[in-house]
Amino acid sequence: MSNAVEYELQGDIAVLKAQNPPVNALGYDVRIGLVAGIEQAEADGARAVLIYGDGRTYFAGADIREFGKPPREPLLTAVCERIESSPLLVVSSMHGTALGGGLEVAMSTHYRVAVASAKVGLPEVLLGILPGAGGTQRLPRLIGTQAALDMITTGRHVGAAEALELGVIDKINDGSPLENGLNYVRELLEQGAPRRVTSELPASEALDFDALYETILKKGRGQISPAVAMRAVQASVELPFAEGMKRERELFMELMATDQRQGLIHSFFSERAVSKLPELKGVEPRPVAAIGVIGGGTMGAGIATSALLAGLDVTLIEMNAEAAEAARGRIESNLTGALKRGKITAEKYDAMTGKALALSTDYSALGDVDLVVEAVFEEMSVKKDVFAKLDAACKPGAVLATNTSYLDVNEIATSTSRPKDVIGLHFFSPAHVMKLLEVVVADDTAPDVVATAFALGKKMGKISVRAGVCDGFIGNRILRHYRAAADHMILDGASPYQIDKALTDFGFAMGPYAVADLAGLDIGWAMRKRLAPTRDARERVPKYIDQICEAGHFGQKTGKGYYDYSGGKRGGVPNAEVMDLITAERAELGITPQDFTDADIVRRYMAAMVNEAARVVGEGIARRPLDVDMTFLFGYGFPRYYGGPLKWADLQGLPALLADIQAYAEKDPYFWQPAPLLEQLVAEGRTFDDLNKQASS
Ligand code: 3HC
Ligand code: NAI
Repeated sequence: MSNAVEYELQGDIAVLKAQNPPVNALGYDVRIGLVAGIEQAEADGARAVLIYGDGRTYFAGADIREFGKPPREPLLTAVCERIESSPLLVVSSMHGTALGGGLEVAMSTHYRVAVASAKVGLPEVLLGILPGAGGTQRLPRLIGTQAALDMITTGRHVGAAEALELGVIDKINDGSPLENGLNYVRELLEQGAPRRVTSELPASEALDFDALYETILKKGRGQISPAVAMRAVQASVELPFAEGMKRERELFMELMATDQRQGLIHSFFSERAVSKLPELKGVEPRPVAAIGVIGGGTMGAGIATSALLAGLDVTLIEMNAEAAEAARGRIESNLTGALKRGKITAEKYDAMTGKALALSTDYSALGDVDLVVEAVFEEMSVKKDVFAKLDAACKPGAVLATNTSYLDVNEIATSTSRPKDVIGLHFFSPAHVMKLLEVVVADDTAPDVVATAFALGKKMGKISVRAGVCDGFIGNRILRHYRAAADHMILDGASPYQIDKALTDFGFAMGPYAVADLAGLDIGWAMRKRLAPTRDARERVPKYIDQICEAGHFGQKTGKGYYDYSGGKRGGVPNAEVMDLITAERAELGITPQDFTDADIVRRYMAAMVNEAARVVGEGIARRPLDVDMTFLFGYGFPRYYGGPLKWADLQGLPALLADIQAYAEKDPYFWQPAPLLEQLVAEGRTFDDLNKQASS
């Protein structure tokens, strides 16, 4: 018997306890153990078999680490068939999360009991695959086609109560999974309950599958696994079980071979690896119960909201009483949104807007806070002034953080007597919604301050990424570079609208110019002015957009930018003035416009993104390629199924990408200098992912 499944005969009930921490993934040893356990139970003359998981959960799915490696028999499909066809009564007792292959095992057992807190689901599509051990064939037979499609194409976790109502499980009981399971098995034996074989249930209702396929494909915004999974469910309706299983297998193997599967699994593991920093091993974060926020504009109010939602007390400092009131209004409006969406109760809302939130214009109110996030205007002199005041007002050991987007955190730290307590906490807008938090570590930042930042990020439900100090850190620095590549394409012949369309077709939720309008064109305008004095003469910077700003058009907030929003159409319509200004600028520069295909646009945009990202990794601003990938997934709407820009680059092939960059450099050698790290990886025949693996070994 394998160690991963412990076998014990309790009277006439054989108990199979899975023990494969942390989540009882159905790896090879567990699969062997389950089959051996069933065989042993049959040989021992047991009347029934109980399957449950040790530790925190029933099986949370197949072992994702085995994907992409040669499969080892017995496959999970065969394990499920062996369980289902056993002449003994087989029962699952579930707790924690019965997901993917876990739920597939459960559906192969003849009855299922769960504790009230258990969750079930078939989240395979989120990993770019589909339930491949009978899930697409058994679930519709259990709960109907419509309900099964909902679970399978969204991958959502379903709570025990809903699972009972749907018919995924048969009973909810509180207690330990062992006691719970044994009681249920005894009850079933006493009743003389028959074996209930899911695969023998009649097929579920037919739907208009072709229409559904199109709808699901569209909803996936380029991600194919939900639509392909739907075809497998269709097979369960139209084919006998055995044939349906074959079809499921074919489609499963098709998806297994896709880049999307690799991208999504990279995303899954990187999301978890990103906050694991070797330097933080054994470093205790400082306790944080109360925080201060300086400035209650867009960002300060969002950060305060996020902190309140995380259960922290907040003291917010504004310049005057009027600004403080406006800040309170923004926070209350954010929290009202959370209340409306059912994220918080009315009682919580009252507490968060009442006792937990204080507004002041006086820095002395910050005497007791454990951490401060500054979110005032993006001006070095203003920031330094605020940090000098914080140095005077805050208790020793308080962490002093800045939310600056671009400015030098080292320089900000010099205005305090305690640079080791100073760090960057770069939230993204809207701060109570966006998941990304860049933790910007300055030269003197103490390790326990970094640990505190990561602990705070976790409390706020953020994905925290460590970044070093440079203009724009990881995300905005790379953004500026690929935005410049897009700006160059406009000067050379593309339109902002073609670029936005090509990139939304690629998978981005919005194109860069629609995003610029949303964020406010004044931000980029201010940045261009700031950088102008030190700009290299070879840099190509368009002027037309400054003219748009000079006319008072800052995007959505003023009703006009790249797009014109005055007609009330969602997303606006192209602003004709923009194309006129572009045409004039091209003429002034003597540029004959060239045609760009959508593929050209995507390639150049992505090449610029990858090239700058390679520099950011090469310089140590991001420690690992996966840190860049997660920054883009959680802060910049990068499609998850590509895994991030650097995983995308690996999957495209680095030599071809470098060759393209070298070709672009023939026309603009200043902008398209290949990143040394990219050249090195190509020369060594390695990938960005090799660097990730090297960092975690
Ligand atoms: N295989 C391998 N490792 C897994 C795993 C799996 N299915 N699920 C989780 N892990 C690992 C995580 O990588 C993490 O490892 P680390 O500690 O080294 O970082 C560890 O288990 C703990 O996971 P979390 O940090 O995510 O723990 P949480 O308690 O936050 O979440 C969970 C637990 C809800 C189970 C979450 O891990 C999860 O969603 N896991 C994936 C579930 C899933 O997608 N299952 C389907 C798999 S595909 C399948 O079954 C194919 C089949 O149809 C043939
Ligand atoms: P904002 O202009 O909306 O808000 C700034 C607020 O700070 C104003 O309410 C102002 O009254 C207040 N303020 C200014 N000086 C102050 C002082 N000395 N003491 C107390 N309050 C003061 O600006 P926004 O957009 O919230 O940006 C704030 C910071 O966050 C900037 O550094 C910006 O670069 C950064 N940031 C902005 C993002 C965005 O998308 N808006 C995203 C991430 C970071």
